[in-house]
Amino acid sequence: MASKVKITAPADYHTETILEANRRAAEHGIDLSKLPKLTDMTADTITDNVHVINSNCKYCLFQSGTRCSNPTNRATLEFLKETGKMCSDIRHASVPAEFILLSDVLGVSSLVDSLNHAKPPGATEACVLGPFFTEDAHEFQNGESIATEGKGDYMYVHGKILDTNGNPIPGAIIDTWETDGHGLYDTQYADRTEPDCRGRLHSAEDGSYAFRAVVPVSYPIPSDGPVGKLVTNLGRHVFRPAHLHMQVEAQGYEKLTTAWYPRGDPYLYSDAVFGVHTSLIVDLKEVTDKDLALKRGFKEGKPHLELHRDIVLATPEEGSAARKRYTSSLKQ
Ligand SMILES: [Fe+2]
Repeated sequence: MASKVKITAPADYHTETILEANRRAAEHGIDLSKLPKLTDMTADTITDNVHVINSNCKYCLFQSGTRCSNPTNRATLEFLKETGKMCSDIRHASVPAEFILLSDVLGVSSLVDSLNHAKPPGATEACVLGPFFTEDAHEFQNGESIATEGKGDYMYVHGKILDTNGNPIPGAIIDTWETDGHGLYDTQYADRTEPDCRGRLHSAEDGSYAFRAVVPVSYPIPSDGPVGKLVTNLGRHVFRPAHLHMQVEAQGYEKLTTAWYPRGDPYLYSDAVFGVHTSLIVDLKEVTDKDLALKRGFKEGKPHLELHRDIVLATPEEGSAARKRYTSSLKQ
């Protein structure tokens, strides 16, 4: 069968993975361009969309009416055993990373987020944590770089941490982590000796934060474990659009886990883990002003991209009221 599948490679680095995803998808006669749009998932829409996207696999239990045989049941248990084996310190995560990934690709993380992290109007939306958060990030001062030199194209990230009335929140703890220019997190390097492309900083008295980073790129979810193989066998593509993770915590406010997604990424509307919300899509501005680049600390005043976004936190009372409204608005 002639392949209708077309996946745009973000970098030569991942060519083998892309070809494999293409080949698997083509085996099932899937046209990835006709997949449902997977942004802005809610508790009302996520289950149906996960069902649709997984039902491309003719052997899949997600297809309605499919009976589970004993061998299939045993294979499922074997899969869970293999998933457990991957949950070691290898990925440096504080939680079982491969199971987080499984929850992510099945849409469960997105569903749980939508039910538990509904936000009041004006507050920044939450999205999936993913499997790459670690507890060992270094502390940085505002303006410093969370990435070592050579890790990717320069990016400057700044904004303010605010409440829903626009008041600054000083002293907020900001954790941020991202891929390097190869689309890999530091934890995916076997020779990792210390954190890179991740850091922890605090908002200033006026609520402002700023740091140097690298431009994140889209990446395949880890394909060395059972979850990556599952997604490929389902005929889905394995990519997440480029993003910068942010987690913000401040006394008197609900902890927020979110991410910014640069506009223009080819996987923005078919994220493998259903994490994108329209409100989290950002425009990166090109900065060519050498003096400004030097002032921001970029080597030789080189051009960079700028990500400017404020982050608005909700109080527990505001969050609770938003969740009540959200829950009551769901279909019964
Ligand atoms: Fe990520």
